[in-house]
Amino acid sequence: MGDPAAKYSVIRTLPHFTEGVSLFQVRLNQDPEKLFAIKQVDMTKSKLSRRVKREIEILKEIKVHRDMEELEGNMDDPFENIVEFIETFDTSADLADPTLQGTFKNIVLEWVNGIVYQVLTLISIKGVTLQKRCAEDTEEIVVWRVLRGILKGLSRLHKHHIFHLDLHSFNILIQDDNIKIIDFDHSKTYIMVLLQEQNKDQSIFGIPNFVAPEAACEQKYLPASDIWAAGMNTLYLCTHGKVSFDERGDPEIQLPNKYSHHLELFIKDMLNKDYTKRPNAAQLISKLTKICENELGLW
Ligand SMILES: Nc1ncnc2c1ncn2[C@@H]1O[C@H](COP(=O)(O)OP(=O)(O)O)[C@@H](O)[C@H]1O
Ligand SMILES: [Mg+2]
Repeated sequence: MGDPAAKYSVIRTLPHFTEGVSLFQVRLNQDPEKLFAIKQVDMTKSKLSRRVKREIEILKEIKVHRDMEELEGNMDDPFENIVEFIETFDTSADLADPTLQGTFKNIVLEWVNGIVYQVLTLISIKGVTLQKRCAEDTEEIVVWRVLRGILKGLSRLHKHHIFHLDLHSFNILIQDDNIKIIDFDHSKTYIMVLLQEQNKDQSIFGIPNFVAPEAACEQKYLPASDIWAAGMNTLYLCTHGKVSFDERGDPEIQLPNKYSHHLELFIKDMLNKDYTKRPNAAQLISKLTKICENELGLW
């Protein structure tokens, strides 16, 4: 088997915000053209260690479904919008600085070369202007494509009863024309949700502007909560990160004039406060396809 850590060399450390979590871009020593991302978590921080264990559990579950669908002869990767999990291993030293001893859990993921989406909403989430990299307008066709990628990823997760539950724009990467959903450390399977309800062990998490009303008010975690978050992401994308909230804290869904009425209505559907009236991911994909093909003639 050998030492899994010795298979990879760190190329660079990515700028990152969560204390105790490091993100590295690495190469495979045997085949230096092959790049991966490694998420390294300091296990001495108990909150993080719980989260990373859950993240690994979920990533392994997704991998099983991915492999099964491949075995069943599915030619296209139905999980193409979900970051691919490669392996996990423990180390007693930091991968980038071997003099730093500790207990670390490392998650090897496919390398996703994309940052646009995060930069777009970094600006408003933090309430400060960081970089105006998103200055130019996002064309409507790009918005629909991004949305389609997110919904395809969600429909696949939801089909297997996995809920992401932290789908804000730092956790969605755009790679050329492709969307990748990352970061499963807040995710839950339906079974986990049920068990936690029984134990009354529920806590609210996530970036407030993206948390669905039923999660914030009733601590209900549902596939529909991911749909709400997808709606918020789209609203941020179309408004260059400048979403206004009314006195009740509800987002104002008004798009700049350049966007079609269809898009505005679509976002309104995703942001229905009543989760029972929010369409699911599969319904939204079929509606999106009809709008883009028949109404707008976009593709
Ligand atoms: N597979 C990947 N490829 C490229 N960049 C990644 C990848 N995974 C994470 N990142 C980058 O690292 C950041 C943090 O990763 P994430 O899993 O969201 O950690 P956290 O749980 O601390 O939010 C992401 O916002 C993204 O910029
Ligand atoms: Mg994240």
